[in-house]
Amino acid sequence: MDKLVIQGGVPLNGEVRISGAKNAALPILCAGLLTAEPLALGNVPDLHDVATMLKLLAHMGIKIERHAAGELTLGADDIHTCEAPYDMVKTMRASILVLGPLLARFGHARVSLPGGCAIGSRPVDLHIKGLQAMGAEIRIEHGYIEAKASKLKGARIFMDLVTVTGTENLMMAAALADGVTVLENAAKEPEVVDLAECLIKMGAKIEGVGTDVITVTGVPHLHAAQHDVVCDRIEAGTYLVAAAMTGGKVKLNNARAELLDAVIDKLRESGAKIEHDKTIITVESRGVLQGPGALKSVSIRTAPHPAFPTDMQAQFMALNTVADAVATVTETIFENRFMHVQEMQRLGANIEVEGNTAIVRGREFLEGATVMATDLRASASLVLAALVARGETVIERIYHLDRGYEHIEDKLGKLGAKVQRIK
Ligand code: EPZ
Repeated sequence: MDKLVIQGGVPLNGEVRISGAKNAALPILCAGLLTAEPLALGNVPDLHDVATMLKLLAHMGIKIERHAAGELTLGADDIHTCEAPYDMVKTMRASILVLGPLLARFGHARVSLPGGCAIGSRPVDLHIKGLQAMGAEIRIEHGYIEAKASKLKGARIFMDLVTVTGTENLMMAAALADGVTVLENAAKEPEVVDLAECLIKMGAKIEGVGTDVITVTGVPHLHAAQHDVVCDRIEAGTYLVAAAMTGGKVKLNNARAELLDAVIDKLRESGAKIEHDKTIITVESRGVLQGPGALKSVSIRTAPHPAFPTDMQAQFMALNTVADAVATVTETIFENRFMHVQEMQRLGANIEVEGNTAIVRGREFLEGATVMATDLRASASLVLAALVARGETVIERIYHLDRGYEHIEDKLGKLGAKVQRIK
């Protein structure tokens, strides 16, 4: 298992290029199942989860033609199995995103129920309920979702929870259904919007994207298209917080500030200086290495987009551990997304958890120690804490990090951080 060894105390300076968004690339790769014609994709991030999804799609028969870095073309003209086996799904819950496309195009699918994961039970009941509303017959047997539908029919579907992949699965299923589907209380995350933009290029008829009512008018076929994956707002947010904490001046290229309103607002509240134009975000900060009180504590409460994103919660907890006062961090999306707390406490952080709220009292400094990554964003928050901790921090099980952050030690190293990967 790889480890990261980080020497804290170095301000970050320079430029970093933000990669394509993991949470847009994953559903968009599944959209390749919806047509026999080629889907050409650009800005696909080089991540473990993307490799896992490509392996699953290849298992079904999708042809994958790679071009330059981040560029590939999918061909689903010869799908020979509509099954997503447990040993592939268990490592990545997003595999559930093949369910809607397989049902819509082939009329049947056998997808392993995704296990829970570190951050919560993460059921897929709303995905199933929506597909049943569209006429699918779905049974759960031996840990598999067995789904059949001669032809999905448009339906009015109210999702009583905002679900990102639920909205994505149902949008893809509705694209080829007979008639009109209305998704109410739909997710508005930029990655949902990016998937919709890709589907529309493929010939889908979708309105209301980015609002909580999405209307999809089914068409008989989708066709070839080219799409560049939107930039990763969570990767961008993570680097913004890193620079705000260490101090220095960092320029993010290929980043879109308008996808990060809530995060930028909170960073400004903490005292960081943020400027941006259409594709660049610059952050400048004194940072905590210049002495106590450089960063103000900022309380956050996660909620569906455009509110503060749950995928940035752990990163802001790290910031608050070295800020000037007390802050509360409230997680409303997942029931167990505080796995990073006990690891941060090993670095000396002063955090108390009460239910879904953590009370974080800022300290003048953290001390390096050995810590363990537990899930993707928790791992990122440990990297941030290590960058400002005194001395050396060793982060174990960093395969979690590799799922969602492209070449993180290279990118941080280019900004001046002392980060080393130990195989
Ligand atoms: C997506 O997960 C993201 N993953 C997550 O990012 C992100 O944290 C999450 O959305 C919230 O923004 C991908 O897009 C691949 P949900 P998803 O369905 O779709 C409950 C990361 O770090 N729920 O929006 O699985 C669920 O338990 C990952 O990149 C049901 O109860 O999340 C949760 O409490 C982590 N029934 C809430 O809704 C359902 O059928 C939101 O989950 C579906 C969801």
